[in-house]
Amino acid sequence: MFMAHCFVTGAAGFVGSHLCEQLLAAGHTVTGVDAFVPYYPRELKERNLAPLLDQASFDFQEADLRTATLAPLLARAEVVFHLAAMPGLLKSWEQFELYMSCNILATQRLLEAAVAAGVQHFVHCSTSSVYGRFATGDETSPLAPVSPYGITKLAAEQLCRAYGEKDGLSYTILRLFSVYGPRQRPDMGYNIFIRKLFTGETITVDGDGTDSRSNTFVTDAVRGIMLAGEHPEQSAGQIFNIGGGQEVNVNQVLQILEELTGQTAQIVHGPRRPGDQRRTAADITKARTLLAYDPQTSVVDGLRAQVEWQRRELSRS
Ligand SMILES: NC(=O)c1ccc[n+]([C@@H]2O[C@H](COP(=O)([O-])OP(=O)(O)OC[C@H]3O[C@@H](n4cnc5c(N)ncnc54)[C@H](O)[C@@H]3O)[C@@H](O)[C@H]2O)c1
Repeated sequence: MFMAHCFVTGAAGFVGSHLCEQLLAAGHTVTGVDAFVPYYPRELKERNLAPLLDQASFDFQEADLRTATLAPLLARAEVVFHLAAMPGLLKSWEQFELYMSCNILATQRLLEAAVAAGVQHFVHCSTSSVYGRFATGDETSPLAPVSPYGITKLAAEQLCRAYGEKDGLSYTILRLFSVYGPRQRPDMGYNIFIRKLFTGETITVDGDGTDSRSNTFVTDAVRGIMLAGEHPEQSAGQIFNIGGGQEVNVNQVLQILEELTGQTAQIVHGPRRPGDQRRTAADITKARTLLAYDPQTSVVDGLRAQVEWQRRELSRS
């Protein structure tokens, strides 16, 4: 089996920490990098990272991609997985400079360093937000992001393409669709719903609850990311949607969560948030065909795993 030294940015984050775990389990060695950007508490990211730090094949470097000298960090890197970013829509309206620097400048610096280090393949994690209000088609769908977050992530994609053209960098772009599961970021909808169900707080649903998502359970998303890194012969120069198989709306999710937690949700409806997507339904035909990507986790099973993780986390605090 193909083994590589992997360089994972955003390693202390939600998806990045799962990716490191799965890469190590598959026998790869990993250098993880993160700057603990305070979008959510450092303590939570340290908790994501803790089990990785015990592993001999894992090396962690605290470094900010916007400013750090990257050459020594990339010295052993064969495959780069670039997940570091400022995520989330709402704050991107208020803190545009932070999104611009973490999502665009950091990506440009990393690409420059990856070319100089001669890495074999660069996997860039992008988002369905690049499509805009409706993300329901395949990878050739129009790109019309409706949030500064989506715009900075689209710019980062274009940088990958430009370095591919200029320097022959082998790269893959993955557009992830709403990822959920254990360690989900505390600002994300399902995390908030579950937390409030357990604490009895009122849940605000933006809009009438009919907005729907093609959610991706985190281990399925990570499988897609790894497939792109492990099979550059199939993935180089390509863009793939990485989503789960099942689309559900907010009202349906709340009903499932009520059953899983045994609690009744107190719900109020508020206005839709600026930049929110109305409907995402990942067309993953291309990833299925070229990468044999095959998401396995049903929404009920995935939410059950997240509920149990949050139950444990709440009982610790
Ligand atoms: N979670 C989702 O539903 C989702 C959906 C689509 C795309 N994505 C993409 O997946 C990636 C991971 O998202 P996540 O949900 O795990 O977010 P996260 O915030 O949990 O992880 C991102 C990590 O990147 C780090 N980081 C940010 N800027 C940095 C910099 N300049 N230098 C070094 N580290 C930096 C942060 O400290 C954080 O730990 C992001 O690129 C995001 O755009 C996520």
